[in-house]
Amino acid sequence: MRLTLNTGPGKAAGIYTGSTVFQELNAFLGNLSPGPDSIFILTDKQSRSCCLEVLTCAVSSLLAAEVLEIPAGEKNKSLKSAEHLWNILAFKGASRRSLLINLGGGVITDLGGFVASTFKRGVPFIHIPTSLLGMVDAAIGGKTGINLGDIKNQIGTFQNPEAIFISTGFLGTLDSYELLSGFAEIIKIALVADICLWKKLGSIRLQDLLKMKPDKEIWEDLISASVAIKCRIVEQDFREKNLREILNFGHTIGHAFESLSLQTNRNPLSHGHAIALGMICESYLSVMKSGLDSGDRDAIIRMIFPDYEYYPLHRKDLDFMMEFIEYDKKRRSSGACFSLLRSPGNAISGERCEPGEIIESIDFYRALER
Ligand SMILES: NC(=O)c1ccc[n+]([C@@H]2O[C@H](COP(=O)([O-])OP(=O)(O)OC[C@H]3O[C@@H](n4cnc5c(N)ncnc54)[C@H](O)[C@@H]3O)[C@@H](O)[C@H]2O)c1
Repeated sequence: MRLTLNTGPGKAAGIYTGSTVFQELNAFLGNLSPGPDSIFILTDKQSRSCCLEVLTCAVSSLLAAEVLEIPAGEKNKSLKSAEHLWNILAFKGASRRSLLINLGGGVITDLGGFVASTFKRGVPFIHIPTSLLGMVDAAIGGKTGINLGDIKNQIGTFQNPEAIFISTGFLGTLDSYELLSGFAEIIKIALVADICLWKKLGSIRLQDLLKMKPDKEIWEDLISASVAIKCRIVEQDFREKNLREILNFGHTIGHAFESLSLQTNRNPLSHGHAIALGMICESYLSVMKSGLDSGDRDAIIRMIFPDYEYYPLHRKDLDFMMEFIEYDKKRRSSGACFSLLRSPGNAISGERCEPGEIIESIDFYRALER
């Protein structure tokens, strides 16, 4: 299956999914004209061990590609890694006619997209996302980036890859922690923009889905649907001036959960797990501020619990979270702005919430502890 993400005149990226994806990649590489003078594959240690051989077995021309490996993990989405990669590319003689293939999760597609879009003012790149979160979210939409110290995604570009190739076969080596992380972004995309997908999710038992083989049609369907919805939003607002902001539902408070879990000595929450908890708080705010029915809020909570574990919050954690939200990048001069739901499948952005309302929403979450 082929989708297209159009972000301006002459700026369309093909997004390939389905069982023929490696044939499509073979054809894509064969049709490049002029052909690349060198091909680099950026990956991290774990994605390399789980995915590189699968890729090069299916696309043998990539056996000759130069592999650039970084350690796995968010802390490597850094200026240090970018500098290291720019240096290697320069040393290996990469040019604007080279091709960078980003093979990995969201860290690799964000970092690789950033490195490619800035090296020599732009080297063509493609994404082959291998995590669920990468497939449904990070690789789609042309946002590239690195973190600046602890501040996420502070440096980056908007640059669409030449193409994106999504093979659900890669999901087979992901553990349920990573699958749940990606699944939270599927829940989010349904909630902000597609009632049909939301209803479909309601008919699925997440625990059953996690046990299914990655080549099952249901995975393919969920991923294709999420990608199509994200493309529809991004095409209307590539540079996130208004509509695209709805994709931040759950993220303002979710990032505070994520940051809290990383700062303390407790188990770190995955990105998606934190967003799932953020969606609970922001659904509460949606009932208060944007007319979400409380029955729909409760359905959202039932979708999230018990599959995503409750993360206990102490009173003092609230201070940390509120401080974090204050400084969050979505803070405007008049107060923290949220993307909230009017109803499942219908969201608005730019909603101002007072600190007391945000605290109330976190207290609502705390009261859900069993
Ligand atoms: N650009 C965007 O629009 C956008 C959107 C959402 C998230 N993001 C970014 O994405 C990143 C999170 O992405 P992520 O959750 O994929 O994290 P990740 O890239 O760190 O991948 C998670 C882990 O899974 C491993 N992995 C990847 N594919 C695997 C596979 N097939 N089998 C086994 N292990 C595999 C990785 O090595 C890593 O250890 C964050 O940096 C976030 O900011 C970007």
